[in-house]
Amino acid sequence: MENTIEFIKSKINGFVPEVGMILGSGLGEFADEYCDIAIPYSEIPGFIKSNVAGHKGRLVFSEIDGKKVVMMQGRNHYYEGHSMSEITYPVKIMKKLGVKTLILTNAAGAVNESFRPADLMIITDHINFMGTNPLIGPNDDSLGERFPDMSEIYKKDLVKLAEKCAERLYIDIQKGVYFASSGPSYETPAEINMARIMGADAVGMSTVPEAIVANYCGMNVIGISCISNAASGVSDVKLSHSEVIETTDKAKNRFKSLVLEILKAL
Ligand code: HPA
Repeated sequence: MENTIEFIKSKINGFVPEVGMILGSGLGEFADEYCDIAIPYSEIPGFIKSNVAGHKGRLVFSEIDGKKVVMMQGRNHYYEGHSMSEITYPVKIMKKLGVKTLILTNAAGAVNESFRPADLMIITDHINFMGTNPLIGPNDDSLGERFPDMSEIYKKDLVKLAEKCAERLYIDIQKGVYFASSGPSYETPAEINMARIMGADAVGMSTVPEAIVANYCGMNVIGISCISNAASGVSDVKLSHSEVIETTDKAKNRFKSLVLEILKAL
């Protein structure tokens, strides 16, 4: 971890980021618009070297409206075959660089039947159904405790703050519980029924590992999902990645402005 931090610090001229962002599908452009310094993951010791499909795969530093921000332009996923500890390593690095608040974004399927494609949802809580946990293994006491409390990962005051931001922008916002499955296959209708009975509103294949690690490290977490499709069985339409990309593309300007408004309000 020390050599990762040393390497990054050698590239950022004393920049101390206070906010971290992980940019999911549809939001990658955000880091093109606000980019002061960019470091490809491939150059960073300890980061996953493989390319992120459809993303640039770089760590971007920028001052946005007076807030010092570090962004992951492109994330790695568990379903690609990386370990949980590999995909959450950058979160630990952000913590060590000074990040206090982490904004997580993703594309997700609607389990809640009242949600519509291109809706934005503030994550209020999550269900980890990935079958594993990123904190399994020896504990690093310098980051957090062995058995971290998980009763308020997505802090109520930050959910409120995000809601207020959406209101200011006249964005009709949804709130709900994000259910994480490992992927890469989409869910069956029976699995989506189960998720709904369990209390889920949206389903996706990311975000939860990063949220668990950020909470463990004592960071504040904000999660925003872009609803890209009706989940399996919710409509008659078969699920496809191209639909997910198309819908997140439609929502991206609203998504970007909401994230920007949240950044300003933090
Ligand atoms: N299921 C899982 N992950 C997803 C979905 C979905 O319906 N849409 C976007 N990511």
